[in-house]
Amino acid sequence: MSVLIAPSILSADFGNLQRDIKMINESRADWFHVDVMDGVFVPNISFGFPVMKAIKKYARKPLDVHLMIVEPDKYLAAFADAGAAIISVHYEACTHLHRTIQNLRQLGVLAGVAINPHTPASLLSEVIASIDVVVLMSVNPGYGGQRFIKNTYSKIDDLKNLIIQKNSSAKIEIDGGVDLKNAHELIRAGADILVAGNTVFSASSPSDAISLLKEAEHQTA
Ligand code: DX5
Ligand code: ZN
Repeated sequence: MSVLIAPSILSADFGNLQRDIKMINESRADWFHVDVMDGVFVPNISFGFPVMKAIKKYARKPLDVHLMIVEPDKYLAAFADAGAAIISVHYEACTHLHRTIQNLRQLGVLAGVAINPHTPASLLSEVIASIDVVVLMSVNPGYGGQRFIKNTYSKIDDLKNLIIQKNSSAKIEIDGGVDLKNAHELIRAGADILVAGNTVFSASSPSDAISLLKEAEHQTA
């Protein structure tokens, strides 16, 4: 499978959201990454259902919803209704993660679990076989445009080993600080999905930046 690219709407121009969604529709991007922040789990507030519905109305690719919120169970059905194809909850926000994953399954969406930089991959050992995506945070969640944390490479290794050991089909999604310099190495290390906010939306041509990320696996490092 070639790497999937998921531009993060958090870095889009909200005054021109429809234009930016159209750009992603027409680009080589695979998913829309939708960052929902509540100001409690993370020190920032992004957007909620009205914006999510506006994205859904125009997006022609799956919505990959990353919930950086406490008590995500309360809102899973509403996010599924609003058009999420993939929903990722944070390991650190779920007291009963196994139950949360069952809830996601029942809603018929792909089930993702995100882990913060301080959380070891091994803590997913009991659930890895029942999830579709692991979102490895390569920055502390809360903001776009932060610097990539290099420990992520060894976490990809740990996670790959766990996935093999537990016979899981979970995909590895890297979120935070992905750029045109580290994309190749991340893919080589085992990343299946790359999220990119700043790298896409601060580029002079966002759709060219998406193409370059998509082709990063063929780069000669
Ligand atoms: C961080 C978010 C990321 C962020 C990525 O809290 O979860 O998805 O938008 O943005 P960049 O690619 O700019 O680090
Ligand atoms: Zn995210």
